[in-house]
Amino acid sequence: MACQTCHIPEYARSGVATKSYWDWSTAGKINAEGKPYSEENYTQGNGKHQHTYMSQKGDFEWAENTEPAYAWFKGVVEYVNDEKVLDPEGIAPVNAIRGDPASDDSRIWPFKIMKGRQACDSVNNTLV
Ligand code: HEC
Repeated sequence: MACQTCHIPEYARSGVATKSYWDWSTAGKINAEGKPYSEENYTQGNGKHQHTYMSQKGDFEWAENTEPAYAWFKGVVEYVNDEKVLDPEGIAPVNAIRGDPASDDSRIWPFKIMKGRQACDSVNNTLV
């Protein structure tokens, strides 16, 4: 086990929320004056701006006092770049954590999972 697995039982603590979901597909709305706008949530966390919607970026969700997800990790992350062909019906692990119980250099680590809806090229099935 990694030290952090025991020593970080929760994250986004002490009134500091973390972004947990980002939906790009809702970007582009305009207000009654025809201008881009944003919506904010001040009730969570430390009172700082927490956008729940931005015309340029879409919808956001936030989380606080959240338990991590756990995974075997050997220090290797596979990042999806704009050449990787994705399954358009599936969920794409944009940052895939690599490790396994059989390898000496793997430990169980805690992770924040952030999900989202990302723009993709529907002809080539790649991220944009
Ligand atoms: C299996 C769970 C676990 C793992 C893994 C773990 N710890 Fe701990 N650690 C604890 C617990 C529980 C305590 C509190 C022990 C006590 O108070 O008697 C503690 C106490 C400590 C303390 C003392 C804190 C203090 O206030 O005196 C330090 C420093 C520490 N750990 C560092 C580490 C480091 C560095 C690692 C990785 C090399 C690590 N721990 C891995 C569970 C863990």
